[in-house]
Amino acid sequence: MKQANKTIILGVTGGIAIHKSIDLASQLVKQGYSVHVVMTENATRLVQPIQFQVISRNPVLLDLFDIGSDWKPVHIDLADKADLLAIVPTTANIIGKMANGIADDALSTVAISVHCPILIAPAMEQHMYENPFVAANMQTLKEHGVEFVEPVSGDLASGKQGMGRLNTVEVILERITQMLQTPKDLDGKRVVVTAGPTREYLDPVRFISNRSSGKMGYAVAEAARDRGAEVLLISGPATAAPPTGVETRYIETTLELQDALLEGFDQTDIVVMAAAVADYRPQSFSANKIKKRADQLTLPLEQNPDIAQALGKRKKKGQITVGFAAETDDLLENAQKKLIKKNCDLIIANDVSAEGAGFEGDTNIVTLLDQNGNCEQLPLLSKREVADHILDRVVELILS
Ligand code: PMT
Repeated sequence: MKQANKTIILGVTGGIAIHKSIDLASQLVKQGYSVHVVMTENATRLVQPIQFQVISRNPVLLDLFDIGSDWKPVHIDLADKADLLAIVPTTANIIGKMANGIADDALSTVAISVHCPILIAPAMEQHMYENPFVAANMQTLKEHGVEFVEPVSGDLASGKQGMGRLNTVEVILERITQMLQTPKDLDGKRVVVTAGPTREYLDPVRFISNRSSGKMGYAVAEAARDRGAEVLLISGPATAAPPTGVETRYIETTLELQDALLEGFDQTDIVVMAAAVADYRPQSFSANKIKKRADQLTLPLEQNPDIAQALGKRKKKGQITVGFAAETDDLLENAQKKLIKKNCDLIIANDVSAEGAGFEGDTNIVTLLDQNGNCEQLPLLSKREVADHILDRVVELILS
């Protein structure tokens, strides 16, 4: 019964592959998880709720207005105690509702009430799976950090062969186990992550900015959330979608970022600064759009405050600050200088001119430098994997 302290909400929707979710519920219970099943109305037309009730040894939630034994609405109570919401099988209908924040039955309402990771296992006919609206909805969920067990190719309900068959129970089970084994080593910690670009305005319509998509910082925020931290994500106008279960505050300029970071800094345990911050801003702001007059326009710039350096000066014992160094040359030498100047505990050096590293992509290649002279070079990894490595090091620093 090693998993007895973990609660899984198993969402069951009306797909022909529903028989696999009965098997899944049974295996999860055998592994010691506390399983609570929530069924859609269509699911109950394929399988009787009593089957899930007996297997899960818990009442099955069918209706938002079910009366529980507690004063709290049942779906809120369930959402509050869940360590994972797994929806198996996941139809195009529930994917569409989740991607659009629609909550019109028990399962879709639970899906927007949980503050734990969400796993879905789509299962549908190939044409439905490839439909552009369904594909766009799936992309939205991915961008918000919903994990997928992708379907496989094989026999479909129509009798045809193709992509869209629910993956195997073994694969889904393995993924659930993997997701729930993430250490909660940042439980009780307040983590602030900065991400995305800043914008420095010349006039109401023009600004100086950079290529940051926000992906690196968003991955750090997501990883910190999964490790149990209370996370505040301070983001510039990024193109990536912020992860669920994370408070997100948007800023535009470096000065706004500075205000947002300084507010509450004293109550913050860890700050990870992945935002690409402008070192300079236009010296003056024209309230009206600047008119085209001469052949050349000279734009005087003034220096922005170095926020990382200010936090490095102000931090108290026990507070950890992590900076990123975006370099195109002399990577380690320049990163080392920033580590010292900004008094960071850790600096993440990335050569933003290297293939697969830096701005916009889903991967990065980084080297972690700390104040003790440790230098850990990582291979090409997904930004989420890089984020996990960074947090592993942060946890080591907290414990040292
Ligand atoms: O968002 P993505 O598309 O995923 O791209 C990721 C990334 C390339 C933006 C990211 O990995 C990265 O390198 N972020 C830091 C970019 C940057 O501003 O680097 P820098 O070397 O100029 O600054 C060093 C550190 O000081 C950074 O932590 C920065 O947030 C901070 N800084 C910089 C200037 C300033 N005035 N104040 C600061 O606090």
